[in-house]
Amino acid sequence: INHHPFTKGLLTWYRQHARELPWRQTQDPYAIWLSEVVLQQTRVAQGLPYYLKLLEVFPTVESLAHADESALFRHWQGLGYYSRARNLHKTAKLVVSDFQGKFPTTYDDLIQLPGVGPYTAAAIASFAFGEAKPVVDGNVFRILARYFGIETDILHSSARKEFTEVAQELIPNDLAAEFNQAIMDFGSLQCSPAPLCGSCPLSLTCFACQQKRISDFPVKQKK
Ligand code: ADE
Repeated sequence: INHHPFTKGLLTWYRQHARELPWRQTQDPYAIWLSEVVLQQTRVAQGLPYYLKLLEVFPTVESLAHADESALFRHWQGLGYYSRARNLHKTAKLVVSDFQGKFPTTYDDLIQLPGVGPYTAAAIASFAFGEAKPVVDGNVFRILARYFGIETDILHSSARKEFTEVAQELIPNDLAAEFNQAIMDFGSLQCSPAPLCGSCPLSLTCFACQQKRISDFPVKQKK
């Protein structure tokens, strides 16, 4: 299979540096959805204990749907952005009442659920169902802007569409889940805001690194 050099390098890097995270040991769309909602606006280290506890207390979508919202809020204490918890409960009830307790299996259906945006829908669709939809967030903007020298202002409303198109070209149909997990870890461990270019296996083909213009990317213009 003929992957782009970026994709090849990223997947090779990931096989050596993958973080072992509990939501990567499951294909249960409920557990994956729960992890992704916990991780919205939240760092892995902060979200991890909440994810484990929530899954222990509410092991199935039925158990969450039938729980009191107050019980969910109690276990959400300290995570913030309580609209996430409200949408979590709303979606659990919807999946039980309208989908017989089975999560939708495609990106287009997942994104209809309350609290599930493009990033979360792509994460669930790829991790649980292998659909080749790329996750796109600030980490992905930064990585792709640097590697390809993309000058688009990431604060402009057109940025998401443009970066999504680039990422869609790069994500392999047969390794979609691995690609998405890899780009998350790469953005957090290697190509972070203060990147470790000296030890980066992609540095030789990275536009920003080759041009010594790391600080120029991503472009954040709009003020
Ligand atoms: N942030 C959001 N989703 C994540 C995931 N699945 N793994 C690590 N960090 C994440």
